[in-house]
Amino acid sequence: METLRGIVVLVHLVGFAVLFGAWVVELANGKRGVTRVMNWGLAIAAVAGLALAAPWGIDHDLNYAKLGTKLVILIVIGALIGIGLGRQRKTGSVPPAIFWPIGILTLVNAGIAVLWR
Ligand code: HEM
Repeated sequence: METLRGIVVLVHLVGFAVLFGAWVVELANGKRGVTRVMNWGLAIAAVAGLALAAPWGIDHDLNYAKLGTKLVILIVIGALIGIGLGRQRKTGSVPPAIFWPIGILTLVNAGIAVLWR
C-alpha cells in the first residue's frame, strides 16, 4: 500500500512538472500563451491529488485544510486555463493577468504542499 501511494505521489509530481513545465516553455519562448499541455498536467495532478486526499497507505492524519486550499487553487488554475484558451482562440493572445497567475498559483500550490505541515 505504501509503495502504491508512493507511485501515486510520483504521478502527482509528473502532473505538476507537466503543468509548470508547459508554463515555463511559454514564458521562455516569449509567446506567453496557454497550451493544452497545461490542461493535461492539471488533469494528471488533479486525479492523483484527489486519490491522495483519501487516507490510505499512511499512518498519520491528513491535513484537510491544506488539501481543501490546494483544491480551490487547482480549480482557479483550471478556470484561468479555460478562459485563456477561449481568449487565445478569439484574439490570438492571452492577457498577462491570466498568463502570470497560472504559473504563480501552480508554484504556490507546490509551496503549500511542501511547506504547510
Ligand atoms: C496544481 C495543483 C497542485 C500542485 C502543483 C501540487 C503539488 C504537489 C507537490 C509538489 C507535492 C509533493 C510534496 C511532498 O511530498 O512533500 C504534493 C503532494 C500532495 N498533494 Fe498536491 N498539488 C496540487 C494539487 C493537489 C490537489 C488538488 C490535491 C487534493 C485535493 C493534492 C493532494 C496532495 C497530497 C495528499 C500530497 C501528499 C502526498 C503524500 O505525502 O502522501 N494536491 N502536491
